[in-house]
Amino acid sequence: IPVFVLNGPNLNMLGRREPGIYGTSTLAEIGAQAREAGERLGLSVDFRQSNHEGQLVDWIHEAFEAAKGIVINPGAYTHTSIALHDALRAVALPTIELHLSNVFAREAFRHHSYVSPAATGVICGFGPRGYVLALEAIRPLVAS
Ligand code: DQA
Repeated sequence: IPVFVLNGPNLNMLGRREPGIYGTSTLAEIGAQAREAGERLGLSVDFRQSNHEGQLVDWIHEAFEAAKGIVINPGAYTHTSIALHDALRAVALPTIELHLSNVFAREAFRHHSYVSPAATGVICGFGPRGYVLALEAIRPLVAS
């Protein structure tokens, strides 16, 4: 069962980026773990990252044809992007919003998400393990 795992801006810098907050795993390592978890769950994980909002919108549209569900870490676009909100509403697929850090324990500007109202559920604060948790969470929602 195909699932898109989409990553937004600055997540390509994982491993080097504020390791005290985001940990030392690289996005490539997290992607490998996600694909492995997917195999165990019967999900074929298409793992992608872009720094560009429009690219993420295009991938969400692509998911409408190509996937049964979406896991998305929208990075900072979480807090700014009505376009991502609208795209997720448009495709209306089961969607898990995901953050490595506990955004609610951080700056106030991270407490609001435009994505949450368009998501099925939200996972945050569990670091890279959140990707595995998100795939486990989406599994029964995409059962064919
Ligand atoms: C993040 C949290 C966001 O607030 C931040 O802008 C990110 C990463 C996370 O995974 O914890 O880029 O989505």
